[in-house]
Amino acid sequence: MKISIFGTGYVGLVTGACLARLGHDVICCDTNKEKIKKLSEGQVPFFEPRLEKLVEENFSAGRINFTNIFSENVFDVDFIFIAVGTPSGENGEVDLSYVKRVAEDIGRNLKHFVVIVNKSTVPVGTGKMVRQIIGEYYKGDFEVVSNPEFLREGNAIEDFMKPERIVVGTDSERAKSILKELYSEFSCPLVSVSIETAEMIKYASNAFLATKVSFINEIANVCERVGADVEDVSYAMGLDSRIGNKFLKAGIGYGGSCFPKDVRGLKNIAIEHDYDFQLLKSIIKVNSEQKAVVVEKSKKLVGDLSGKRVCIWGLSFKPDTDDFRESLAVDIIKLFHKEKTQVNAYDPAANYDRIRETADFAGAVEFFSDQYEALQDCDVLVIATEWNEFKKADLGKIKVSLSEPNVVDGRNIYDPALMSEAGLNYLSIGR
Ligand SMILES: NC(=O)c1ccc[n+]([C@@H]2O[C@H](COP(=O)([O-])OP(=O)(O)OC[C@H]3O[C@@H](n4cnc5c(N)ncnc54)[C@H](O)[C@@H]3O)[C@@H](O)[C@H]2O)c1
Repeated sequence: MKISIFGTGYVGLVTGACLARLGHDVICCDTNKEKIKKLSEGQVPFFEPRLEKLVEENFSAGRINFTNIFSENVFDVDFIFIAVGTPSGENGEVDLSYVKRVAEDIGRNLKHFVVIVNKSTVPVGTGKMVRQIIGEYYKGDFEVVSNPEFLREGNAIEDFMKPERIVVGTDSERAKSILKELYSEFSCPLVSVSIETAEMIKYASNAFLATKVSFINEIANVCERVGADVEDVSYAMGLDSRIGNKFLKAGIGYGGSCFPKDVRGLKNIAIEHDYDFQLLKSIIKVNSEQKAVVVEKSKKLVGDLSGKRVCIWGLSFKPDTDDFRESLAVDIIKLFHKEKTQVNAYDPAANYDRIRETADFAGAVEFFSDQYEALQDCDVLVIATEWNEFKKADLGKIKVSLSEPNVVDGRNIYDPALMSEAGLNYLSIGR
């Protein structure tokens, strides 16, 4: 099949590379010239494990190409995937301007029947809107299908290639059977629903996972006050198959390019339809307050933070990615700056220049390329992201590298007994 993909970000590029791997002829389109230039030179513009190799293999085999020029060949395909960003607007509403722009481009350029597959996370009604926009320009036959994406950054290829379910939203039998054929290699359930239901499934899934995170964080906060251990609580809770152990890990909260914006988005979708989704408001509030616990815990260890220096390990919103959109680590640095604390930072994959340009820090941040050098002159080490290399860190080396042997672990990656044995003053979440 011939497939073009609009939006060559985390979702679009992974989708493109995986579909090319399955033997399809893929063209990835993006308005970002710099991104397309890099991809055409064989470089993946962001970090995602195994993606560069997959792109390279399929590029060499001629199964994937990249362009920022949306000429005829881009629309002369069997499928057009939409995978552009749907960021939060100023008031938490979903900004659909990128999706609308793609719909207009499609409408203006379509010459024959195609199936338009929307992978971007969009409010209920967007599929219909896309169909309407295209129909204003193109009077021929076409289908619009909602096919939300559930991949996780850091594990995106595996998630795409071995999905737990594929959701196909359409009322058209023809579109459904074409999509079934496209995904015939996958053995997971294909959930066939209306376009509106498919759009809602994505928001409901992300909001539910965010709920689990905020719930266990509140349990952790209570555990601290009553002398219980949240790690044991969540382990035992997770053994109950009705609950499950995923997303039940206490910490500083959820961040990233999806959960915060999708929870806000769903809250706003509900408001727009005259429904006050009270639970989501609490989830957002709990999450926005949780990250401050690491600053409070640092104060417990060193007293007044003014003039002190902390080291933050981990800047990405989760391990195995360089994505720092709505990363809690960035927020935590800002909280330390408010306390007039100086900050050192280390991350295994972050693009420090990009963070410096976009994060709008009020104070200085010194970035390091070695995790132990980053500890120099620091009074506290704060773990913000649970990268594997932090889990395996040499505790003795942490102790001698810090000025004061204090560790605040925002992700509960260390065993308190081992930290104590290593001579480190250690505070974590809910233990
Ligand atoms: N990142 C994830 O883990 C993830 C997972 C599931 C779903 N999603 C959803 O998928 C969508 C894309 O997310 P992402 O993280 O890949 O975004 P991204 O920001 O990494 O990529 C979006 C890309 O779209 C490009 N773009 C914007 N307008 C365009 C246009 N008119 N034509 C062509 N390209 C255009 C941008 O330049 C950018 O490269 C969002 O709706 C997101 O919520 C993301």
